[in-house]
Amino acid sequence: MLRHALRSLAPSSRQACAAGAARSVHTVSVPPLDYDYGELEPVISGEIMRLHHQKHHQAYVTGYNTALEKLEGAQAKGDTPAIVALQSAINFNGGGHINHSIFWKNLAPPAKGGGEPPSGPLAAALDQEFGSLDAFKSKFAATTAAVQGSGWGWLAYNPDTHHILITTTPNQDPVSARGLVPLLGVDVWEHAYYLQYKNVRPDYLKAIWKVVNWKDVEKRFAAASS
Ligand SMILES: [Fe+2]
Repeated sequence: MLRHALRSLAPSSRQACAAGAARSVHTVSVPPLDYDYGELEPVISGEIMRLHHQKHHQAYVTGYNTALEKLEGAQAKGDTPAIVALQSAINFNGGGHINHSIFWKNLAPPAKGGGEPPSGPLAAALDQEFGSLDAFKSKFAATTAAVQGSGWGWLAYNPDTHHILITTTPNQDPVSARGLVPLLGVDVWEHAYYLQYKNVRPDYLKAIWKVVNWKDVEKRFAAASS
C-alpha cells in the first residue's frame, strides 16, 4: 500500500530546462518514508501521517517547484520586481520541503529503533548541555510547546560555538537559514497532531519521544561536528 502511495508522488521530481537557455530548474519531490504510515501508531496515527506526507508535504513541494519555474521566467525577462516578489514563496515552500524531509527521517517505529535512547558522542553532548536526556526532553518540550502559531522545535548544532542547542523557528523557516545545522526537528503545525491530540500540543510533545529515531539524529550530529 505504501509503495502504491509513494509511486503517485514520484513523478513530481524532474529537471526542466528552459528552451534555449543554459540555466535549468531543479525541482524537488516528496521523499519516500522508511516506514508505513501506520507504523508510528499509537504515537502518531496513520491518518495523520498519510495526510501529512501525501498532502501537506506535497503542497510545499508543488509550491516550491511552481515558484522556481516562475523565477526562471522572471530572470529570463530581467523582471526584478517579480524576482523579489517570489522570494517569500520560495522560502516558505522550500523551507517546508527541507523541514519535512528531515522530520520523516527523525522518526522511526518502535519496532525499528524508534525511541531507543541516543548513545556515544550525542548522548555525551546532551548530558553536557542539558544535564541528562530527560532534562533535555523536558526543556525541548516546554520550549517547543510555547511556539506561537505554527512552527518547529529543533535540536541544532552551532558550528561556530561547537555546541548543541534547543531553538524554535516560526512557520517553515529552516534553522539552516540561521547558520545552524538541524539535528532533530519536531513539527508543531496543527496539521502534525490536531486530528489525534486536538489542541493539547504538550501531549503530542510528551509522546513523540517514543518514535524519535535517535540513530538518525546521531548521524546528523556526527556529520555536523566532524
Ligand atoms: Fe508539517
